[in-house]
Amino acid sequence: MEALAGAETAAFHQPWPARLLLWVSALSCSFSSTASLPPSLVPGVRSSYTLERTLLGLDKCNACIGTSICKKFFKEEIRFDNSMASHLGLPPYDLPSYPANYSDDSKTWRPVEVSRLVSKYKSEISDRRICASASAPKSCSIERVLRKTGRFQKWLQAKRLTPDLVQGLPSPFLRCPSQRLLDRVVRRYAEVADAGSIFMDHFTDRDKLRLLYTLAVNAHPIILQIFPGAEGWPLPKYLGSCGRFLISTSTRPLQEFYDAPPEQAADLAYQLLGILESLRSNDLNYFFYFTHVDADMFGIFDNGHLFIRDASALGVIDKQEGSQAAARTGEKEDIFSCLVSGCQVQLSSCDTVPEKQSLVLVCQQLLPQLLQGKFPSPEQEDIDSALSLCSKDSSTDMEVLGATSRLKDILRPLRTCDPRFAYRYPDCKYNDRF
Ligand SMILES: *[C@@H]1O[C@H](CO)[C@@H](O)[C@H](O)[C@H]1NC(C)=O
Repeated sequence: MEALAGAETAAFHQPWPARLLLWVSALSCSFSSTASLPPSLVPGVRSSYTLERTLLGLDKCNACIGTSICKKFFKEEIRFDNSMASHLGLPPYDLPSYPANYSDDSKTWRPVEVSRLVSKYKSEISDRRICASASAPKSCSIERVLRKTGRFQKWLQAKRLTPDLVQGLPSPFLRCPSQRLLDRVVRRYAEVADAGSIFMDHFTDRDKLRLLYTLAVNAHPIILQIFPGAEGWPLPKYLGSCGRFLISTSTRPLQEFYDAPPEQAADLAYQLLGILESLRSNDLNYFFYFTHVDADMFGIFDNGHLFIRDASALGVIDKQEGSQAAARTGEKEDIFSCLVSGCQVQLSSCDTVPEKQSLVLVCQQLLPQLLQGKFPSPEQEDIDSALSLCSKDSSTDMEVLGATSRLKDILRPLRTCDPRFAYRYPDCKYNDRF
């Protein structure tokens, strides 16, 4: 991005959104050319400019998610909370996500979350790994190194996204990819203009690198795009990306509800079990499972609806087609396998994920926090005994599924019907299905 040096001086006195426009408009032509103005000629300017550019990770494109929403920053249709802004007019530098407001018409605003693809720390480590893989220990053109890899060269030739192209990527989402799943990724990839085809004819080299990079680092934004909340999937809406950040509808982490009153705790636990049920069995015949859970991975929208806030630990098995990577001859690891995990992670095979897995994790780590010591007798005892059964590693699939289904039955009448639960109110007044 050295070519931007000229734009930097011109942009110096602009407020931050205007400067962003300059970066965005310069993005398309900024990667192949070299410096027009040495940074040393603009002392002080470079540091604050670089900080902003680096904040979004735009300088790292096309080793990034995309740029689909950068123009919204320019139009000031994405606004950070003023109280979060530092002396540079930017939010503090190293949070995993930032609350912001988003508008399509500059009149009505809704809360969104601006999140990093991975933490700043992990991003830096992975960038260093990329340079190290090219024997350039200090700094390098990340994009150039990635473009030269055998994997990306194969991507460039490919018309269709096939399992061998994602083999060895560490995300549980790509652990057992079926052709059906990968076609869905290409068809619904929102960072390219003409979505809808399973062939990558309309993908530029740049689009392919962005998709590969995102899948290799964290499949979360891709999962949001291909299983949209609008179609009933329990995921927040993907609004777009800028650099290494994505923007999605905002939710409050489940952790903030650990002390909720009993009727609300019952409602959240009930929804949580419902989500896991829909992940286990759904119309599309995908079996989703969590490799681990924590309270930040679930969030509550302002109408009381519970969502998966962070899908990065979500694995998927295609029950309809099965995995076509079954005949793989050893894992094919390369730099894309090692960006965030450092190749240390041992992944399970596709066949050994038990049906109970996500339920056990949730019964062990989340439900006790929500449900313990809140309810009168005998409900509390019933809840505790169901929890103790579903949280045991030694319980069978049948026992866990039985215990959580009993737990749902106990929780259903403990939820109340009132406006706090706008996602099912007022329907719950007239229909006990809600
Ligand atoms: C979003 O806008 C609302 C209403 O103007 C305001 O109360 C809230 O603090 C804003 N949130 C952020 C993150 O800017």
